[in-house]
Amino acid sequence: MESRAVRSYKLRGRRITEGQQEAWDRLWPIFGIESSDQKINLSELFPDSKRIIMEIGFGMGEATAQIAAADPTTGYVAVEVHRPGIGKLLSRIEELKLKNMRTIEGDAFEVFEQMIIDSSLDGVHLFFPDPWPKARHFKRRIVNQEFITAVASKLKPGAFFHIATDWQPYAQWIAEEFTKQTLFTGGEVDRPDWRPLTRFEDQGINKEHPVADFRFIKS
Ligand SMILES: C[S@@+](CC[C@H](N)C(=O)[O-])C[C@H]1O[C@@H](n2cnc3c(N)ncnc32)[C@H](O)[C@@H]1O
Repeated sequence: MESRAVRSYKLRGRRITEGQQEAWDRLWPIFGIESSDQKINLSELFPDSKRIIMEIGFGMGEATAQIAAADPTTGYVAVEVHRPGIGKLLSRIEELKLKNMRTIEGDAFEVFEQMIIDSSLDGVHLFFPDPWPKARHFKRRIVNQEFITAVASKLKPGAFFHIATDWQPYAQWIAEEFTKQTLFTGGEVDRPDWRPLTRFEDQGINKEHPVADFRFIKS
């Protein structure tokens, strides 16, 4: 896949521990999906699932794995660019014996464009996207019109897009970006019970970063 000029992530080290490498070698062939320009047949991947939800930028996969474990009748596809995080999620899939989770290594923009069939998803999760606090980096914020349009095209009508952020200026940014479009309705909601409190969020709360949850519905 070709790389985009402006990326929403910083390529951190791909250094992986011996244990993570061992987990990768064993588990990637079972739960990983290679990036390609071929569309994935999601219902073939999850034949028994009632819904299919994609998570973008899952980090170390803490919330991702817990959500999938608590909701076994939904198929989860988790996309991340950070290989050590993918390795960690693979281990969590094994530990929790998850049957409803697959992971893709790649940039969500490219994955949407090349691998996901239009109107095929029941939901998209985006938890704590990189805030890119400096003005000169705002163009790297993943929530922008291009991304909103891409997510909308992959969601079924009535499907949801859930976003959480602990960075107040980003929450305002998200609210504003959604006022510029008509593909979704919705806005800020109470923190949902199904979204687990991760270490990351807990630290944020301790630092008095209020968390904002948004839920948008595809028209
Ligand atoms: C601040 S971290 C949050 C991780 C996790 N969601 C959490 O709540 O702990 C944002 C993550 O999004 C990933 N990311 C950013 N842009 C991405 C993209 N275009 N495609 C896939 N992953 C992306 C980064 O690699 C990073 O791991």
